[in-house]
Amino acid sequence: MRIPVIAGNWKLYKTIGESVAMVNELKPLVAGIEGVEIVVAPVFTALGSVSAALSGSAICVSGQDCFWEEEGAFTGEVSPKLLKDAGCSHVIIGHSERRLYFGESDDSVNRKVRAAISAGLTAIVCVGETLEERDARATFTVVGKQIRGSLDGFSADDFKQIVIAYEPVWAIGTGKTATAEQAQDVHEYIRNLVLMLSGNSVSDSLRILYGGSVKPDNIKGLMAQPDIDGALIGGASLKAATFAEMIRICV
Ligand code: PGA
Repeated sequence: MRIPVIAGNWKLYKTIGESVAMVNELKPLVAGIEGVEIVVAPVFTALGSVSAALSGSAICVSGQDCFWEEEGAFTGEVSPKLLKDAGCSHVIIGHSERRLYFGESDDSVNRKVRAAISAGLTAIVCVGETLEERDARATFTVVGKQIRGSLDGFSADDFKQIVIAYEPVWAIGTGKTATAEQAQDVHEYIRNLVLMLSGNSVSDSLRILYGGSVKPDNIKGLMAQPDIDGALIGGASLKAATFAEMIRICV
């Protein structure tokens, strides 16, 4: 039995005040909902205030990235330990925007995931192909390479703190969602690959989220797929009412 995860990736949106207002609005809307792990990922500067606003609530707080070292002369970086300190339980790693604009590689993702796990965080590890790669029928090759590289060397115990998010780059922020069947095909591929690499118990319990233009009108069909265990939601997670509606559809 895999507990679904519904995670809101707020990207570079919302001030501290706006972030706190959003979770204060969200809290009563999802109070008492069980059987789903709810996660919000505000910008770094809002993490502490959002965590404080959520204390006593079941809603989890996530960073959108982290560095792999705990501390040192690394100007501008934030370590998993500091995310923990700010109240986070999760961290998104290897989002396609980081891969595209900030030179994130499977190797850096791997180091970050290792550091996140050591600090006691759950890592939400993102993979996904571009439109050119899909058109060239290279989806499985690309996603397979990302999974092998990003998650090489992790034990069954480590995998308890890993969630994978499959996010086709062509579906992110474009309004173009993968069909539920297209998404399921890749999710099934990922689960089989993890089965091959890490065995049954890991692949059976691994949560694999779909991301890319998830909205209230398509989340139900996606969640009905056997290998889709939740969603990583950008644009549609920014409004409390819409985010809560999607959470309610999933339980
Ligand atoms: P979107 O973003 O829902 O706005 O497409 C998803 C993501 O980038 O995680």
